[in-house]
Amino acid sequence: MTAITINKTATQFYINSIQNGKEDFDKITDLCLRHIKKKQGEGKCARRILELTVQAYESYLDHLILGWIQKIFERYFGNYGRAKEVLKQPTTSIPTDNAKVERILAGYFASVRQTTVCFLQKNKDTSSSILIATPKGHKYFVPLSEGPKGKGASRFIYEGKVYFTKDGKNEVVRPIGILTTLPLNPAEYDPAVVKEATSKMQSEYDTITSIEDDSDRVIRVYDNFTTSFGALDVGFTTMDYHQKSDIAKFIKSDDYLNMTPEKKLAFLKSLVEVYQKLHNKHLIHRDLRSQNILVDNNFLPVLIDLETCISESQERSKAEEVAGTQAYWSPEYLAGCLKGMEEANQNSIQKSSAYLAQATTQALDAWALGLVCFHFMFGKDLISEIFHFGSMGGSDKTKIGYLKDIHAKLPDFVRQMNAEGTPTEENWIEIKRAIQANKLIWNEVIVPLLELDPQKRKRIADISFE
Ligand SMILES: Nc1ncnc2c1ncn2[C@@H]1O[C@H](COP(=O)(O)OP(=O)(O)O)[C@@H](O)[C@H]1O
Ligand SMILES: [Mg+2]
Repeated sequence: MTAITINKTATQFYINSIQNGKEDFDKITDLCLRHIKKKQGEGKCARRILELTVQAYESYLDHLILGWIQKIFERYFGNYGRAKEVLKQPTTSIPTDNAKVERILAGYFASVRQTTVCFLQKNKDTSSSILIATPKGHKYFVPLSEGPKGKGASRFIYEGKVYFTKDGKNEVVRPIGILTTLPLNPAEYDPAVVKEATSKMQSEYDTITSIEDDSDRVIRVYDNFTTSFGALDVGFTTMDYHQKSDIAKFIKSDDYLNMTPEKKLAFLKSLVEVYQKLHNKHLIHRDLRSQNILVDNNFLPVLIDLETCISESQERSKAEEVAGTQAYWSPEYLAGCLKGMEEANQNSIQKSSAYLAQATTQALDAWALGLVCFHFMFGKDLISEIFHFGSMGGSDKTKIGYLKDIHAKLPDFVRQMNAEGTPTEENWIEIKRAIQANKLIWNEVIVPLLELDPQKRKRIADISFE
Protein backbone atom coordinates (compact mmCIF):
# COMPACT_ATOMS: atom_id res chain seq x y z
CA MET A 1 0.00 0.00 0.00
CA THR A 2 1.33 3.42 -0.88
CA ALA A 3 1.51 5.82 1.99
CA ILE A 4 1.89 9.59 2.00
CA THR A 5 4.76 11.54 3.47
CA ILE A 6 4.24 15.00 4.91
CA ASN A 7 7.20 17.21 5.62
CA LYS A 8 5.54 18.88 8.60
CA THR A 9 4.35 17.97 12.03
CA ALA A 10 0.82 16.63 12.29
CA THR A 11 -0.27 19.83 14.08
CA GLN A 12 1.13 22.12 11.39
CA PHE A 13 -0.52 20.03 8.73
CA TYR A 14 -3.81 20.07 10.59
CA ILE A 15 -3.84 23.85 11.03
CA ASN A 16 -2.99 24.32 7.37
CA SER A 17 -5.73 21.96 6.30
CA ILE A 18 -8.36 23.88 8.24
CA GLN A 19 -7.00 27.21 7.07
CA ASN A 20 -7.37 25.94 3.53
CA GLY A 21 -10.92 24.84 4.26
CA LYS A 22 -9.98 21.22 3.61
CA GLU A 23 -11.13 19.70 6.87
CA ASP A 24 -14.63 19.24 8.18
CA PHE A 25 -14.46 21.78 10.98
CA ASP A 26 -17.88 20.94 12.29
CA LYS A 27 -17.22 17.24 12.56
CA ILE A 28 -13.93 17.70 14.39
CA THR A 29 -15.40 20.21 16.81
CA ASP A 30 -18.25 17.89 17.54
CA LEU A 31 -15.90 14.98 18.22
CA CYS A 32 -13.79 17.03 20.58
CA LEU A 33 -16.80 18.37 22.42
CA ARG A 34 -18.23 14.91 22.92
CA HIS A 35 -14.90 13.67 24.24
CA ILE A 36 -14.54 16.57 26.67
CA LYS A 37 -18.07 16.00 27.89
CA LYS A 38 -17.43 12.29 28.44
CA LYS A 39 -14.33 13.10 30.46
CA GLN A 40 -16.30 15.67 32.46
CA GLY A 41 -14.32 18.58 31.18
CA GLU A 42 -10.92 16.90 31.49
CA GLY A 43 -10.36 15.80 27.87
CA LYS A 44 -7.01 17.53 27.76
CA CYS A 45 -5.85 16.50 24.32
CA ALA A 46 -9.30 17.13 22.89
CA ARG A 47 -9.24 20.62 24.38
CA ARG A 48 -5.91 21.30 22.77
CA ILE A 49 -7.18 20.10 19.41
CA LEU A 50 -10.32 22.13 19.84
CA GLU A 51 -8.19 25.14 20.55
CA LEU A 52 -6.11 24.52 17.44
CA THR A 53 -9.26 24.02 15.41
CA VAL A 54 -10.77 27.27 16.59
CA GLN A 55 -7.52 29.15 15.96
CA ALA A 56 -7.16 27.72 12.50
CA TYR A 57 -10.81 28.31 11.70
CA GLU A 58 -10.59 31.94 12.79
CA SER A 59 -7.57 32.48 10.64
CA TYR A 60 -9.45 30.82 7.78
CA LEU A 61 -12.28 33.28 8.31
CA ASP A 62 -9.87 36.19 8.58
CA HIS A 63 -8.02 35.36 5.45
CA LEU A 64 -10.42 33.72 3.15
CA ILE A 65 -13.99 34.37 3.99
CA LEU A 66 -15.84 37.63 4.29
CA GLY A 67 -17.83 38.41 7.40
CA TRP A 68 -21.20 37.58 5.86
CA ILE A 69 -20.02 34.10 4.96
CA GLN A 70 -18.98 33.66 8.56
CA LYS A 71 -22.53 34.40 9.64
CA ILE A 72 -23.97 31.81 7.28
CA PHE A 73 -21.37 29.37 8.47
CA GLU A 74 -22.25 29.89 12.11
CA ARG A 75 -25.91 29.40 11.40
CA TYR A 76 -25.26 26.00 9.90
CA PHE A 77 -22.35 24.98 12.12
CA GLY A 78 -23.49 26.10 15.51
CA ASN A 79 -20.68 24.14 17.17
CA TYR A 80 -18.28 26.98 16.71
CA GLY A 81 -20.00 29.04 19.39
CA ARG A 82 -20.13 26.12 21.77
CA ALA A 83 -16.47 25.41 21.16
CA LYS A 84 -15.60 28.98 22.07
CA GLU A 85 -17.67 28.69 25.25
CA VAL A 86 -15.92 25.50 26.32
CA LEU A 87 -12.53 27.02 25.75
CA LYS A 88 -13.46 30.06 27.80
CA GLN A 89 -14.10 27.91 30.86
CA PRO A 90 -10.96 28.09 32.99
CA THR A 91 -11.44 24.63 34.54
CA THR A 92 -8.71 22.82 32.68
CA SER A 93 -5.28 23.92 31.67
CA ILE A 94 -4.19 23.06 28.17
CA PRO A 95 -2.05 19.90 28.17
CA THR A 96 1.66 19.93 27.64
CA ASP A 97 1.69 16.43 26.13
CA ASN A 98 2.12 17.73 22.62
CA ALA A 99 3.35 14.37 21.42
CA LYS A 100 -0.04 12.88 22.22
CA VAL A 101 -1.82 15.67 20.33
CA GLU A 102 0.46 14.92 17.38
CA ARG A 103 -0.49 11.25 17.53
CA ILE A 104 -4.21 11.98 17.72
CA LEU A 105 -4.00 14.29 14.71
CA ALA A 106 -1.84 11.84 12.75
CA GLY A 107 -4.33 9.08 13.54
CA TYR A 108 -7.14 11.33 12.39
CA PHE A 109 -5.52 11.87 8.98
CA ALA A 110 -4.79 8.16 8.52
CA SER A 111 -8.39 7.38 9.28
CA VAL A 112 -10.05 10.06 7.09
CA ARG A 113 -7.69 9.36 4.18
CA GLN A 114 -7.66 5.61 4.71
CA THR A 115 -3.95 5.46 4.09
CA THR A 116 -0.74 5.40 6.07
CA VAL A 117 0.53 8.89 6.80
CA CYS A 118 4.16 9.66 7.72
CA PHE A 119 5.03 12.96 9.38
CA LEU A 120 8.65 13.98 9.31
CA GLN A 121 9.32 15.88 12.49
CA LYS A 122 12.32 18.11 12.91
CA ASN A 123 12.56 19.39 16.44
CA LYS A 124 14.15 22.58 17.70
CA ASP A 125 17.06 20.69 19.24
CA THR A 126 17.83 19.45 15.69
CA SER A 127 16.69 15.93 16.54
CA SER A 128 14.40 14.36 14.00
CA SER A 129 11.86 11.60 14.05
CA ILE A 130 9.03 10.16 12.01
CA LEU A 131 5.50 9.80 13.29
CA ILE A 132 3.51 7.23 11.33
CA ALA A 133 -0.19 6.53 11.56
CA THR A 134 -1.78 3.61 9.77
CA PRO A 135 -5.45 3.06 8.92
CA LYS A 136 -5.37 0.07 11.32
CA GLY A 137 -5.06 2.61 14.13
CA HIS A 138 -1.38 2.00 14.93
CA LYS A 139 0.86 4.97 15.51
CA TYR A 140 4.61 4.49 15.28
CA PHE A 141 7.34 6.74 16.54
CA VAL A 142 10.72 6.32 14.82
CA PRO A 143 13.58 8.13 16.59
CA LEU A 144 15.76 8.89 13.56
CA SER A 145 18.33 10.93 15.48
CA GLU A 146 19.05 8.06 17.84
CA GLY A 147 20.34 6.16 14.85
CA PRO A 148 19.53 2.61 13.82
CA LYS A 149 20.18 -0.34 16.14
CA GLY A 150 21.13 -2.62 13.27
CA LYS A 151 22.25 -2.27 9.68
CA GLY A 152 22.01 -4.49 6.69
CA ALA A 153 23.21 -3.95 3.16
CA SER A 154 20.37 -1.63 2.22
CA ARG A 155 18.17 -1.33 5.28
CA PHE A 156 18.17 -0.21 8.86
CA ILE A 157 16.37 -1.30 12.00
CA TYR A 158 15.24 1.30 14.53
CA GLU A 159 13.94 0.63 17.97
CA GLY A 160 10.83 2.74 18.19
CA LYS A 161 7.47 2.75 19.88
CA VAL A 162 4.00 1.75 18.81
CA TYR A 163 0.88 3.33 20.29
CA PHE A 164 -2.57 1.86 19.95
CA THR A 165 -5.83 2.01 21.81
CA LYS A 166 -6.88 -1.23 23.40
CA ASP A 167 -10.61 -1.97 23.34
CA GLY A 168 -11.18 1.56 22.05
CA LYS A 169 -10.07 2.89 25.44
CA ASN A 170 -6.71 4.00 26.77
CA GLU A 171 -3.59 4.38 24.72
CA VAL A 172 -1.09 1.53 25.16
CA VAL A 173 2.58 1.85 24.24
CA ARG A 174 5.08 -0.89 23.41
CA PRO A 175 8.61 -0.99 21.95
CA ILE A 176 8.68 -2.00 18.29
CA GLY A 177 11.23 -2.65 15.57
CA ILE A 178 10.96 -0.52 12.46
CA LEU A 179 12.86 -1.86 9.49
CA THR A 180 13.25 0.70 6.72
CA THR A 181 15.09 1.28 3.48
CA LEU A 182 15.26 5.01 4.29
CA PRO A 183 19.02 5.67 4.05
CA LEU A 184 20.90 7.53 6.77
CA ASN A 185 22.02 10.07 4.24
CA PRO A 186 19.41 10.06 1.45
CA ALA A 187 21.44 12.38 -0.77
CA GLU A 188 24.13 9.74 -1.18
CA TYR A 189 21.77 7.03 -2.35
CA ASP A 190 20.73 5.94 -5.79
CA PRO A 191 16.90 6.02 -5.96
CA ALA A 192 16.87 2.88 -8.13
CA VAL A 193 18.77 0.91 -5.49
CA VAL A 194 16.45 2.06 -2.69
CA LYS A 195 13.44 1.28 -4.86
CA GLU A 196 14.59 -2.28 -5.43
CA ALA A 197 15.31 -2.84 -1.73
CA THR A 198 11.85 -1.44 -0.97
CA SER A 199 10.09 -3.73 -3.37
CA LYS A 200 12.00 -6.74 -1.96
CA MET A 201 10.94 -5.71 1.52
CA GLN A 202 7.33 -5.80 0.43
CA SER A 203 7.55 -9.33 -0.96
CA GLU A 204 9.47 -10.39 2.13
CA TYR A 205 6.54 -9.19 4.24
CA ASP A 206 4.19 -11.32 2.12
CA THR A 207 6.46 -14.35 2.55
CA ILE A 208 6.56 -13.92 6.33
CA THR A 209 2.80 -13.58 6.65
CA SER A 210 2.26 -16.59 4.37
CA ILE A 211 4.31 -18.84 6.68
CA GLU A 212 1.67 -18.31 9.36
CA ASP A 213 4.00 -19.22 12.18
CA ASP A 214 2.12 -19.06 15.44
CA SER A 215 5.06 -20.19 17.56
CA ASP A 216 6.81 -16.82 17.15
CA ARG A 217 9.95 -18.45 15.80
CA VAL A 218 9.60 -16.43 12.60
CA ILE A 219 9.70 -12.68 13.18
CA ARG A 220 6.24 -11.28 13.90
CA VAL A 221 5.40 -8.44 11.53
CA TYR A 222 2.59 -5.89 11.82
CA ASP A 223 2.53 -3.32 9.00
CA ASN A 224 4.26 -2.84 5.69
CA PHE A 225 4.01 0.21 3.45
CA THR A 226 5.90 2.25 0.93
CA THR A 227 6.16 6.02 0.76
CA SER A 228 8.30 8.63 -0.97
CA PHE A 229 10.88 10.79 0.69
CA GLY A 230 11.90 13.23 -2.03
CA ALA A 231 13.02 11.10 -4.97
CA LEU A 232 13.30 7.95 -2.89
CA ASP A 233 10.69 5.20 -2.65
CA VAL A 234 11.13 4.01 0.87
CA GLY A 235 9.74 0.90 2.54
CA PHE A 236 8.82 0.22 6.15
CA THR A 237 8.03 -3.01 7.93
CA THR A 238 7.15 -2.95 11.59
CA MET A 239 8.03 -5.99 13.66
CA ASP A 240 8.86 -7.18 17.15
CA TYR A 241 12.15 -5.79 18.32
CA HIS A 242 14.53 -8.26 19.98
CA GLN A 243 17.14 -6.46 22.00
CA LYS A 244 19.41 -9.49 22.45
CA SER A 245 20.05 -9.03 18.73
CA ASP A 246 21.35 -11.64 16.30
CA ILE A 247 23.48 -14.71 17.09
CA ALA A 248 26.72 -13.05 15.93
CA LYS A 249 26.26 -10.16 18.38
CA PHE A 250 24.63 -12.22 21.13
CA ILE A 251 27.64 -14.54 21.31
CA LYS A 252 29.73 -11.65 22.57
CA SER A 253 27.39 -10.91 25.49
CA ASP A 254 27.39 -12.05 29.12
CA ASP A 255 23.99 -13.59 28.48
CA TYR A 256 25.66 -16.05 26.14
CA LEU A 257 28.50 -16.82 28.54
CA ASN A 258 25.94 -17.65 31.22
CA MET A 259 23.96 -20.04 29.02
CA THR A 260 24.19 -23.69 30.05
CA PRO A 261 24.84 -26.39 27.39
CA GLU A 262 21.22 -27.53 27.95
CA LYS A 263 19.88 -24.08 27.14
CA LYS A 264 22.07 -23.90 24.06
CA LEU A 265 20.77 -27.27 22.97
CA ALA A 266 17.17 -26.12 23.48
CA PHE A 267 17.95 -23.08 21.31
CA LEU A 268 19.36 -25.21 18.50
CA LYS A 269 16.50 -27.70 18.72
CA SER A 270 14.08 -24.85 18.26
CA LEU A 271 16.17 -23.48 15.38
CA VAL A 272 16.09 -26.85 13.64
CA GLU A 273 12.31 -26.99 14.15
CA VAL A 274 11.68 -23.64 12.51
CA TYR A 275 13.69 -24.73 9.46
CA GLN A 276 11.77 -28.01 9.41
CA LYS A 277 8.61 -25.95 9.21
CA LEU A 278 10.01 -23.81 6.39
CA HIS A 279 11.22 -26.84 4.47
CA ASN A 280 7.90 -28.64 4.94
CA LYS A 281 6.35 -25.67 3.21
CA HIS A 282 8.84 -26.24 0.36
CA LEU A 283 10.70 -23.02 1.00
CA ILE A 284 14.45 -22.38 0.77
CA HIS A 285 15.76 -19.49 2.87
CA ARG A 286 19.04 -19.06 0.92
CA ASP A 287 20.51 -16.64 3.46
CA LEU A 288 20.67 -18.69 6.63
CA ARG A 289 23.46 -17.22 8.75
CA SER A 290 24.14 -16.05 12.29
CA GLN A 291 23.23 -12.42 11.51
CA ASN A 292 19.78 -13.50 10.36
CA ILE A 293 18.73 -15.29 13.52
CA LEU A 294 17.77 -13.25 16.56
CA VAL A 295 17.69 -14.36 20.17
CA ASP A 296 14.49 -13.56 22.04
CA ASN A 297 14.04 -12.88 25.76
CA ASN A 298 13.40 -16.57 26.41
CA PHE A 299 16.69 -17.47 24.74
CA LEU A 300 14.96 -18.96 21.73
CA PRO A 301 15.66 -18.23 18.07
CA VAL A 302 13.67 -15.88 15.84
CA LEU A 303 14.22 -16.04 12.13
CA ILE A 304 14.51 -12.74 10.22
CA ASP A 305 15.59 -11.54 6.79
CA LEU A 306 13.43 -13.67 4.52
CA GLU A 307 14.20 -11.40 1.60
CA THR A 308 15.84 -14.19 -0.37
CA CYS A 309 13.39 -16.93 0.70
CA ILE A 310 11.88 -18.68 -2.32
CA SER A 311 9.66 -21.63 -3.00
CA GLU A 312 11.47 -24.80 -4.00
CA SER A 313 9.38 -25.67 -6.99
CA GLN A 314 8.26 -22.34 -8.40
CA GLU A 315 10.39 -19.27 -8.92
CA ARG A 316 13.26 -21.13 -10.60
CA SER A 317 14.25 -17.90 -12.32
CA LYS A 318 14.81 -16.37 -8.89
CA ALA A 319 17.01 -19.33 -7.99
CA GLU A 320 19.31 -18.36 -10.86
CA GLU A 321 20.14 -15.12 -9.10
CA VAL A 322 23.07 -15.16 -6.76
CA ALA A 323 21.91 -15.02 -3.14
CA GLY A 324 23.14 -15.36 0.39
CA THR A 325 26.54 -14.79 1.92
CA GLN A 326 29.77 -16.27 0.57
CA ALA A 327 31.09 -17.71 3.83
CA TYR A 328 27.84 -19.70 4.18
CA TRP A 329 27.71 -21.00 0.61
CA SER A 330 27.70 -24.76 0.37
CA PRO A 331 30.38 -26.54 -1.71
CA GLU A 332 27.91 -27.24 -4.54
CA TYR A 333 26.74 -23.59 -4.57
CA LEU A 334 30.34 -22.48 -4.73
CA ALA A 335 30.97 -24.88 -7.59
CA GLY A 336 27.88 -23.57 -9.40
CA CYS A 337 29.11 -20.03 -8.93
CA LEU A 338 32.54 -20.93 -10.34
CA LYS A 339 30.98 -22.66 -13.35
CA GLY A 340 28.94 -19.53 -14.08
CA MET A 341 32.11 -17.45 -13.89
CA GLU A 342 34.03 -19.79 -16.17
CA GLU A 343 31.27 -19.86 -18.74
CA ALA A 344 31.14 -16.07 -18.82
CA ASN A 345 34.93 -15.98 -18.80
CA GLN A 346 34.90 -13.59 -15.83
CA ASN A 347 36.78 -13.32 -12.56
CA SER A 348 33.91 -11.70 -10.73
CA ILE A 349 30.77 -13.43 -9.51
CA GLN A 350 28.02 -13.56 -12.14
CA LYS A 351 24.73 -12.21 -10.88
CA SER A 352 22.81 -15.07 -12.34
CA SER A 353 23.38 -18.46 -13.89
CA ALA A 354 21.57 -21.73 -14.42
CA TYR A 355 24.28 -23.47 -12.36
CA LEU A 356 23.26 -21.45 -9.32
CA ALA A 357 19.66 -22.57 -9.77
CA GLN A 358 20.82 -26.21 -9.83
CA ALA A 359 22.63 -25.70 -6.54
CA THR A 360 19.66 -23.95 -4.94
CA THR A 361 18.01 -26.74 -3.00
CA GLN A 362 17.13 -27.23 0.64
CA ALA A 363 20.59 -28.81 1.01
CA LEU A 364 21.95 -25.27 0.70
CA ASP A 365 20.12 -24.27 3.89
CA ALA A 366 21.24 -27.51 5.54
CA TRP A 367 24.91 -26.65 5.03
CA ALA A 368 24.43 -23.14 6.39
CA LEU A 369 22.50 -24.50 9.37
CA GLY A 370 25.50 -26.71 10.18
CA LEU A 371 27.69 -23.61 10.29
CA VAL A 372 25.23 -21.65 12.42
CA CYS A 373 24.84 -24.54 14.88
CA PHE A 374 28.62 -24.71 15.17
CA HIS A 375 28.85 -20.96 15.74
CA PHE A 376 26.15 -20.95 18.39
CA MET A 377 27.29 -24.07 20.24
CA PHE A 378 30.99 -23.26 20.36
CA GLY A 379 30.93 -19.47 20.19
CA LYS A 380 33.27 -19.32 17.20
CA ASP A 381 32.47 -18.97 13.53
CA LEU A 382 33.97 -22.02 11.82
CA ILE A 383 34.74 -20.47 8.44
CA SER A 384 35.87 -17.01 9.47
CA GLU A 385 37.34 -17.55 12.93
CA ILE A 386 38.73 -21.07 12.78
CA PHE A 387 39.71 -21.08 9.11
CA HIS A 388 40.23 -17.30 8.85
CA PHE A 389 38.16 -16.75 5.72
CA GLY A 390 37.65 -13.04 5.12
CA SER A 391 40.89 -11.87 6.68
CA MET A 392 42.34 -11.70 3.17
CA GLY A 393 41.16 -9.48 0.33
CA GLY A 394 41.45 -10.21 -3.35
CA SER A 395 39.14 -10.71 -6.30
CA ASP A 396 35.99 -12.79 -6.15
CA LYS A 397 37.90 -15.60 -7.79
CA THR A 398 40.67 -15.55 -5.17
CA LYS A 399 38.15 -15.52 -2.33
CA ILE A 400 36.15 -18.35 -3.78
CA GLY A 401 39.32 -20.36 -4.30
CA TYR A 402 40.16 -19.81 -0.65
CA LEU A 403 36.72 -20.91 0.45
CA LYS A 404 37.04 -24.02 -1.70
CA ASP A 405 40.30 -24.88 0.07
CA ILE A 406 38.62 -24.48 3.45
CA HIS A 407 35.86 -26.88 2.46
CA ALA A 408 38.46 -29.38 1.30
CA LYS A 409 40.10 -29.22 4.74
CA LEU A 410 36.89 -29.88 6.66
CA PRO A 411 36.98 -33.71 6.62
CA ASP A 412 40.43 -33.61 8.21
CA PHE A 413 39.18 -31.12 10.80
CA VAL A 414 36.27 -33.42 11.67
CA ARG A 415 38.60 -36.40 11.88
CA GLN A 416 40.98 -34.59 14.23
CA MET A 417 38.11 -33.47 16.45
CA ASN A 418 36.92 -37.08 16.78
CA ALA A 419 40.29 -38.78 17.08
CA GLU A 420 42.47 -39.20 20.13
CA GLY A 421 45.40 -36.84 20.48
CA THR A 422 46.14 -33.16 20.08
CA PRO A 423 45.02 -31.32 16.93
CA THR A 424 47.71 -30.02 14.58
CA GLU A 425 46.57 -26.40 14.76
CA GLU A 426 46.79 -24.58 18.05
CA ASN A 427 43.50 -22.75 17.72
CA TRP A 428 41.73 -26.10 17.27
CA ILE A 429 42.63 -27.33 20.77
CA GLU A 430 40.06 -25.28 22.64
CA ILE A 431 37.38 -26.12 20.10
CA LYS A 432 38.17 -29.80 20.43
CA ARG A 433 37.57 -29.60 24.15
CA ALA A 434 34.20 -27.93 23.62
CA ILE A 435 33.22 -30.52 21.02
CA GLN A 436 34.10 -33.39 23.34
CA ALA A 437 31.77 -31.87 25.90
CA ASN A 438 28.88 -31.53 23.41
CA LYS A 439 29.00 -34.75 21.45
CA LEU A 440 25.30 -34.99 20.65
CA ILE A 441 24.95 -31.78 18.67
CA TRP A 442 28.33 -32.37 17.02
CA ASN A 443 27.65 -35.96 15.92
CA GLU A 444 23.95 -35.78 15.17
CA VAL A 445 23.60 -32.30 13.73
CA ILE A 446 26.77 -30.43 12.82
CA VAL A 447 28.84 -33.19 11.21
CA PRO A 448 25.97 -34.65 9.13
CA LEU A 449 24.99 -31.15 7.94
CA LEU A 450 28.56 -30.20 7.02
CA GLU A 451 28.75 -33.12 4.61
CA LEU A 452 30.43 -31.92 1.40
CA ASP A 453 28.27 -34.04 -0.91
CA PRO A 454 24.73 -32.57 -1.03
CA GLN A 455 23.30 -36.03 -1.80
CA LYS A 456 24.74 -37.45 1.41
CA ARG A 457 24.15 -34.35 3.49
CA LYS A 458 21.53 -34.76 6.20
CA ARG A 459 18.18 -33.24 5.37
CA ILE A 460 17.00 -30.76 8.00
CA ALA A 461 13.65 -32.55 7.98
CA ASP A 462 15.40 -35.74 9.17
CA ILE A 463 17.16 -34.25 12.17
CA SER A 464 15.93 -35.63 15.45
CA PHE A 465 17.10 -34.91 18.95
CA GLU A 466 15.75 -38.12 20.48
N1 LIG B 1 13.45 -7.23 14.66
C1 LIG B 1 14.74 -7.04 14.95
N2 LIG B 1 15.14 -6.92 16.24
C2 LIG B 1 16.46 -6.70 16.54
N3 LIG B 1 17.43 -6.60 15.62
C3 LIG B 1 17.11 -6.73 14.31
C4 LIG B 1 15.74 -6.95 13.91
N4 LIG B 1 15.72 -7.03 12.56
C5 LIG B 1 16.98 -6.85 12.13
N5 LIG B 1 17.83 -6.68 13.18
C6 LIG B 1 19.29 -6.44 13.09
O1 LIG B 1 19.58 -5.75 11.86
C7 LIG B 1 20.44 -6.54 11.02
C8 LIG B 1 20.06 -6.34 9.55
O2 LIG B 1 18.70 -6.69 9.32
P1 LIG B 1 18.31 -7.67 8.11
O3 LIG B 1 16.83 -7.75 8.02
O4 LIG B 1 19.00 -8.97 8.27
O5 LIG B 1 18.88 -6.86 6.85
P2 LIG B 1 19.77 -7.38 5.62
O6 LIG B 1 18.86 -8.07 4.69
O7 LIG B 1 20.34 -6.19 4.97
O8 LIG B 1 20.80 -8.34 6.17
C9 LIG B 1 20.29 -7.98 11.54
O9 LIG B 1 21.45 -8.75 11.27
C10 LIG B 1 20.06 -7.76 13.04
O10 LIG B 1 21.29 -7.57 13.72
MG1 LIG C 1 20.40 -9.98 7.22
